[in-house]
Amino acid sequence: MFLIQGVVAIGGTGLLSASEPTAFDGGRFFEQQVLPILEQHCFKCHSREHDAEGGLVLDTRAGCSTGGESGPAVKAGDLRNSPVIQAVRHVDPETAMPPKKKLTPMEIALLETWVLLGAPDPRPE
Ligand code: HEC
Repeated sequence: MFLIQGVVAIGGTGLLSASEPTAFDGGRFFEQQVLPILEQHCFKCHSREHDAEGGLVLDTRAGCSTGGESGPAVKAGDLRNSPVIQAVRHVDPETAMPPKKKLTPMEIALLETWVLLGAPDPRPE
């Protein structure tokens, strides 16, 4: 359900608009829709400059794929085995992220869409 909302939203924001009949640009989707969510809600505890809680940094591509103490943070195409998704869905209260509040359904849907698209991440190493 969330996924469908997310896809509708992406269409609605013009990313898939008629002026751009070219193939869907996953890297651009990451930079415009996903990175801002991570920046706003995760980097203060999961980045090189601040903290690497749980051993996890999300402000680099390598950090996302290597992950933290429990392994890769994101598994392309696999929501169930992507700790980032399980964390933002608050599946387990122990690892609910961000710890004190929940992202909006739209933000969660965008992260899920990103993982289902194969977690494209164009950030240079
Ligand atoms: C206020 C600080 C804080 C914020 C904000 C935060 N986290 Fe965390 N995160 C932690 C701490 C502390 C741990 C390690 C202990 C634990 O698992 O609760 C952790 C662990 C994790 C883990 C497990 C890492 C591992 O390999 O064990 C994931 C995945 C994660 N966070 C994702 C996120 C995501 C995604 C966001 C943003 C939506 C986020 N976190 C925001 C503090 C934070």
